[in-house]
Amino acid sequence: MARITAGVGCSHVPAIGVAMDTGITEQDYWKPVFAGFEKSREWMKEANPDVIFLVYNDHCTAFDSSIIPTFALGCAPEFQPADEGWGPRPVPVVKNHPVLASHIAQSLILDEFDITIMNEMEVDHGLTVPLSVMYGQPEEWPALVIPLAVNVVMYPAPTGNRCFQLGKAIRRAIESFDEDLNVVIFGTGGMSHQLQYKRAGLINPEWDKSFLDRLTSDPVGLSQMPHVEYLREAGSEGVEMVMWHVMRGALDDEVTEVHRHYHVPASNTAVGHIILENKT
Ligand code: DHB
Ligand code: FE
Repeated sequence: MARITAGVGCSHVPAIGVAMDTGITEQDYWKPVFAGFEKSREWMKEANPDVIFLVYNDHCTAFDSSIIPTFALGCAPEFQPADEGWGPRPVPVVKNHPVLASHIAQSLILDEFDITIMNEMEVDHGLTVPLSVMYGQPEEWPALVIPLAVNVVMYPAPTGNRCFQLGKAIRRAIESFDEDLNVVIFGTGGMSHQLQYKRAGLINPEWDKSFLDRLTSDPVGLSQMPHVEYLREAGSEGVEMVMWHVMRGALDDEVTEVHRHYHVPASNTAVGHIILENKT
Protein backbone atom coordinates (compact mmCIF):
# COMPACT_ATOMS: atom_id res chain seq x y z
CA MET A 1 0.00 0.00 0.00
CA ALA A 2 1.20 3.55 -0.69
CA ARG A 3 1.73 5.65 2.46
CA ILE A 4 2.20 9.34 3.22
CA THR A 5 5.08 9.44 5.69
CA ALA A 6 5.82 13.16 5.95
CA GLY A 7 4.96 16.67 4.85
CA VAL A 8 7.20 19.52 3.76
CA GLY A 9 6.22 23.19 3.78
CA CYS A 10 8.41 25.38 1.63
CA SER A 11 8.53 28.84 0.02
CA HIS A 12 9.02 29.10 -3.75
CA VAL A 13 10.78 32.47 -4.12
CA PRO A 14 11.91 32.56 -7.80
CA ALA A 15 15.17 34.42 -6.96
CA ILE A 16 16.25 31.38 -4.91
CA GLY A 17 16.14 29.33 -8.12
CA VAL A 18 18.12 32.02 -9.95
CA ALA A 19 20.73 32.05 -7.14
CA MET A 20 21.18 28.28 -7.55
CA ASP A 21 21.17 28.37 -11.35
CA THR A 22 23.79 31.15 -11.48
CA GLY A 23 26.01 29.74 -8.70
CA ILE A 24 25.80 32.62 -6.20
CA THR A 25 24.46 30.69 -3.19
CA GLU A 26 27.69 31.36 -1.22
CA GLN A 27 27.24 35.14 -1.40
CA ASP A 28 26.54 36.85 1.95
CA TYR A 29 22.93 37.61 1.01
CA TRP A 30 22.09 34.02 0.08
CA LYS A 31 24.27 31.99 2.45
CA PRO A 32 21.84 32.03 5.42
CA VAL A 33 18.91 31.18 3.13
CA PHE A 34 20.62 28.00 1.90
CA ALA A 35 22.19 27.11 5.26
CA GLY A 36 18.68 26.39 6.56
CA PHE A 37 18.16 23.76 3.84
CA GLU A 38 21.30 21.73 4.59
CA LYS A 39 19.50 19.61 7.15
CA SER A 40 16.52 19.31 4.76
CA ARG A 41 18.71 17.83 2.02
CA GLU A 42 20.08 15.26 4.47
CA TRP A 43 16.54 14.51 5.59
CA MET A 44 15.44 14.01 1.95
CA LYS A 45 18.27 11.50 1.42
CA GLU A 46 17.19 9.62 4.52
CA ALA A 47 13.45 9.79 3.77
CA ASN A 48 14.09 8.86 0.13
CA PRO A 49 10.48 9.18 -1.09
CA ASP A 50 9.39 7.26 -4.18
CA VAL A 51 6.83 9.93 -4.97
CA ILE A 52 6.37 13.58 -4.02
CA PHE A 53 2.81 14.87 -4.13
CA LEU A 54 3.60 18.54 -4.76
CA VAL A 55 0.94 21.16 -4.03
CA TYR A 56 1.96 24.42 -5.69
CA ASN A 57 0.65 27.38 -7.61
CA ASP A 58 1.15 28.34 -11.20
CA HIS A 59 1.99 32.01 -11.85
CA CYS A 60 0.17 32.66 -15.16
CA THR A 61 2.51 30.19 -16.89
CA ALA A 62 0.37 27.11 -17.59
CA PHE A 63 -2.85 29.05 -17.02
CA ASP A 64 -3.79 32.63 -17.79
CA SER A 65 -7.07 34.43 -17.17
CA SER A 66 -8.74 32.43 -19.97
CA ILE A 67 -8.95 29.37 -17.70
CA ILE A 68 -8.65 29.31 -13.91
CA PRO A 69 -8.94 25.83 -12.41
CA THR A 70 -9.16 25.92 -8.63
CA PHE A 71 -7.43 22.53 -8.30
CA ALA A 72 -5.60 20.96 -11.29
CA LEU A 73 -3.95 17.54 -10.97
CA GLY A 74 -0.99 16.70 -13.22
CA CYS A 75 -1.67 13.34 -14.91
CA ALA A 76 0.78 13.69 -17.86
CA PRO A 77 3.82 11.36 -18.02
CA GLU A 78 6.15 14.34 -17.52
CA PHE A 79 6.19 18.10 -17.05
CA GLN A 80 8.72 20.40 -18.72
CA PRO A 81 10.07 23.42 -16.80
CA ALA A 82 8.41 26.50 -18.34
CA ASP A 83 10.03 29.54 -19.88
CA GLU A 84 9.03 32.29 -17.45
CA GLY A 85 10.63 35.08 -19.48
CA TRP A 86 14.34 34.29 -19.12
CA GLY A 87 14.32 30.82 -20.67
CA PRO A 88 13.39 27.63 -18.82
CA ARG A 89 15.33 26.93 -15.62
CA PRO A 90 18.18 24.44 -16.24
CA VAL A 91 16.60 21.76 -14.07
CA PRO A 92 15.62 18.18 -14.93
CA VAL A 93 12.27 17.37 -16.49
CA VAL A 94 9.72 16.46 -13.80
CA LYS A 95 8.57 12.84 -14.16
CA ASN A 96 5.20 11.64 -12.93
CA HIS A 97 3.85 8.34 -11.61
CA PRO A 98 0.94 8.48 -14.09
CA VAL A 99 -0.81 5.36 -12.79
CA LEU A 100 -0.90 6.71 -9.25
CA ALA A 101 -1.91 10.16 -10.55
CA SER A 102 -4.86 8.63 -12.46
CA HIS A 103 -5.84 6.64 -9.40
CA ILE A 104 -5.80 9.84 -7.31
CA ALA A 105 -7.89 11.65 -9.95
CA GLN A 106 -10.51 8.88 -9.86
CA SER A 107 -10.49 8.63 -6.07
CA LEU A 108 -10.81 12.40 -5.56
CA ILE A 109 -13.64 12.83 -8.03
CA LEU A 110 -15.60 9.86 -6.67
CA ASP A 111 -14.91 11.33 -3.20
CA GLU A 112 -16.63 14.52 -4.49
CA PHE A 113 -13.54 16.70 -5.02
CA ASP A 114 -14.02 17.65 -8.66
CA ILE A 115 -10.46 18.51 -9.66
CA THR A 116 -9.33 19.38 -13.20
CA ILE A 117 -7.25 16.69 -14.94
CA MET A 118 -4.13 18.01 -16.71
CA ASN A 119 -2.82 15.66 -19.41
CA GLU A 120 -0.35 18.30 -20.55
CA MET A 121 1.20 21.02 -18.39
CA GLU A 122 4.41 23.03 -18.01
CA VAL A 123 5.60 23.82 -14.49
CA ASP A 124 7.05 27.11 -13.24
CA HIS A 125 9.12 28.24 -10.23
CA GLY A 126 6.20 27.43 -7.93
CA LEU A 127 7.07 23.75 -8.43
CA THR A 128 10.74 23.73 -9.44
CA VAL A 129 12.14 25.97 -6.67
CA PRO A 130 10.90 23.76 -3.79
CA LEU A 131 12.43 20.72 -5.55
CA SER A 132 15.71 22.61 -6.02
CA VAL A 133 16.04 23.70 -2.40
CA MET A 134 15.20 20.22 -1.11
CA TYR A 135 17.38 18.25 -3.57
CA GLY A 136 20.10 20.63 -4.77
CA GLN A 137 21.13 20.21 -8.39
CA PRO A 138 20.89 16.50 -9.37
CA GLU A 139 21.00 15.22 -12.97
CA GLU A 140 17.55 13.70 -12.49
CA TRP A 141 15.00 14.40 -9.74
CA PRO A 142 15.38 11.47 -7.32
CA ALA A 143 11.60 11.07 -6.90
CA LEU A 144 8.59 10.96 -9.18
CA VAL A 145 6.39 14.04 -8.75
CA ILE A 146 2.61 14.40 -8.92
CA PRO A 147 1.76 18.11 -9.20
CA LEU A 148 -1.43 19.67 -7.88
CA ALA A 149 -1.83 23.27 -9.01
CA VAL A 150 -4.01 25.44 -6.75
CA ASN A 151 -5.39 28.79 -7.88
CA VAL A 152 -4.15 31.49 -5.51
CA VAL A 153 -3.50 34.09 -8.22
CA MET A 154 -7.01 35.15 -9.29
CA TYR A 155 -9.78 35.85 -6.76
CA PRO A 156 -11.44 33.68 -5.44
CA ALA A 157 -8.85 31.26 -4.07
CA PRO A 158 -10.13 28.14 -2.25
CA THR A 159 -10.58 28.43 1.52
CA GLY A 160 -8.06 27.03 3.99
CA ASN A 161 -10.71 24.57 5.15
CA ARG A 162 -11.37 23.31 1.60
CA CYS A 163 -7.62 22.83 1.15
CA PHE A 164 -7.37 20.97 4.47
CA GLN A 165 -10.29 18.68 3.56
CA LEU A 166 -8.74 18.06 0.14
CA GLY A 167 -5.57 16.98 1.92
CA LYS A 168 -7.58 14.35 3.77
CA ALA A 169 -9.11 13.13 0.50
CA ILE A 170 -5.62 12.96 -1.08
CA ARG A 171 -4.51 10.79 1.82
CA ARG A 172 -7.49 8.46 1.30
CA ALA A 173 -6.62 8.29 -2.41
CA ILE A 174 -2.95 7.53 -1.87
CA GLU A 175 -3.57 5.00 0.88
CA SER A 176 -5.97 3.06 -1.34
CA PHE A 177 -3.28 2.55 -4.03
CA ASP A 178 -2.03 -0.99 -4.06
CA GLU A 179 1.72 -0.48 -4.54
CA ASP A 180 4.31 -0.10 -1.78
CA LEU A 181 5.27 3.54 -2.17
CA ASN A 182 6.72 6.06 0.24
CA VAL A 183 4.99 9.36 -0.51
CA VAL A 184 5.99 12.76 0.88
CA ILE A 185 3.57 15.64 0.37
CA PHE A 186 4.78 19.22 -0.20
CA GLY A 187 2.75 22.37 0.53
CA THR A 188 4.51 25.32 -1.06
CA GLY A 189 4.38 29.11 -1.51
CA GLY A 190 4.42 32.03 0.89
CA MET A 191 5.30 33.15 3.39
CA SER A 192 4.03 36.70 3.98
CA HIS A 193 4.63 38.93 0.97
CA GLN A 194 3.00 41.55 -1.19
CA LEU A 195 4.46 42.29 -4.61
CA GLN A 196 2.22 45.18 -5.64
CA TYR A 197 0.77 48.60 -4.96
CA LYS A 198 1.00 50.56 -1.71
CA ARG A 199 1.95 47.76 0.64
CA ALA A 200 4.53 46.20 -1.73
CA GLY A 201 7.37 44.82 0.38
CA LEU A 202 5.15 43.84 3.33
CA ILE A 203 6.60 41.01 5.45
CA ASN A 204 5.13 39.99 8.82
CA PRO A 205 7.54 37.70 10.72
CA GLU A 206 5.29 37.44 13.83
CA TRP A 207 2.38 36.22 11.73
CA ASP A 208 4.63 33.82 9.80
CA LYS A 209 6.06 32.36 13.00
CA SER A 210 2.62 31.91 14.50
CA PHE A 211 1.47 30.18 11.27
CA LEU A 212 4.37 27.71 11.53
CA ASP A 213 3.67 27.08 15.25
CA ARG A 214 -0.02 26.45 14.65
CA LEU A 215 0.62 24.30 11.58
CA THR A 216 2.18 21.77 13.93
CA SER A 217 -0.01 22.20 17.01
CA ASP A 218 -3.40 23.56 15.87
CA PRO A 219 -3.88 22.58 12.22
CA VAL A 220 -7.69 22.50 12.30
CA GLY A 221 -7.98 25.92 13.96
CA LEU A 222 -5.42 27.34 11.53
CA SER A 223 -7.31 26.00 8.52
CA GLN A 224 -10.35 28.07 9.58
CA MET A 225 -8.53 31.38 9.08
CA PRO A 226 -10.53 33.57 6.65
CA HIS A 227 -8.93 34.94 3.46
CA VAL A 228 -9.15 38.51 4.73
CA GLU A 229 -6.67 37.69 7.51
CA TYR A 230 -4.10 36.43 5.00
CA LEU A 231 -4.54 39.60 2.96
CA ARG A 232 -4.42 41.94 5.94
CA GLU A 233 -1.61 40.25 7.89
CA ALA A 234 0.43 38.43 5.25
CA GLY A 235 -0.12 40.63 2.17
CA SER A 236 -1.88 39.94 -1.12
CA GLU A 237 0.48 37.08 -2.05
CA GLY A 238 0.39 35.72 1.51
CA VAL A 239 -2.76 33.89 0.44
CA GLU A 240 -0.40 31.36 -1.17
CA MET A 241 -0.22 29.91 2.36
CA VAL A 242 -3.60 28.17 1.93
CA MET A 243 -1.67 25.52 -0.04
CA TRP A 244 0.13 24.44 3.13
CA HIS A 245 -3.24 23.27 4.53
CA VAL A 246 -3.50 20.63 1.78
CA MET A 247 -0.21 19.19 3.01
CA ARG A 248 -1.20 19.41 6.67
CA GLY A 249 -4.63 17.86 6.06
CA ALA A 250 -2.94 14.83 4.51
CA LEU A 251 -0.92 14.15 7.70
CA ASP A 252 -1.83 12.71 11.10
CA ASP A 253 -3.54 15.02 13.61
CA GLU A 254 -0.37 14.81 15.71
CA VAL A 255 2.94 15.09 13.93
CA THR A 256 6.59 15.48 14.83
CA GLU A 257 8.23 18.70 13.69
CA VAL A 258 11.72 17.58 12.67
CA HIS A 259 13.02 20.78 11.10
CA ARG A 260 12.14 24.44 10.68
CA HIS A 261 13.85 27.30 8.87
CA TYR A 262 12.75 30.93 8.70
CA HIS A 263 14.73 33.76 7.18
CA VAL A 264 14.07 37.34 6.07
CA PRO A 265 14.66 38.62 3.45
CA ALA A 266 14.85 36.67 0.22
CA SER A 267 13.83 38.83 -2.73
CA ASN A 268 10.53 40.39 -1.58
CA THR A 269 9.44 37.76 0.91
CA ALA A 270 10.28 35.69 3.94
CA VAL A 271 11.57 32.16 3.40
CA GLY A 272 9.65 29.65 5.49
CA HIS A 273 10.21 25.93 5.65
CA ILE A 274 9.06 23.09 7.88
CA ILE A 275 9.32 19.28 7.87
CA LEU A 276 6.62 17.30 9.67
CA GLU A 277 6.67 13.53 10.10
CA ASN A 278 3.69 11.30 10.70
CA LYS A 279 3.93 9.38 13.98
CA THR A 280 2.08 6.32 12.69
C1 DHB B 1 8.48 36.76 -5.39
C2 DHB B 1 7.77 35.84 -4.61
C3 DHB B 1 6.85 34.99 -5.21
O1 DHB B 1 6.09 34.12 -4.51
C4 DHB B 1 6.68 35.01 -6.58
O2 DHB B 1 5.85 34.10 -7.11
C5 DHB B 1 7.37 35.94 -7.35
C6 DHB B 1 8.28 36.81 -6.75
C7 DHB B 1 9.48 37.66 -4.76
O3 DHB B 1 9.65 37.62 -3.55
O4 DHB B 1 10.14 38.40 -5.47
FE1 FE C 1 4.54 33.12 -5.76
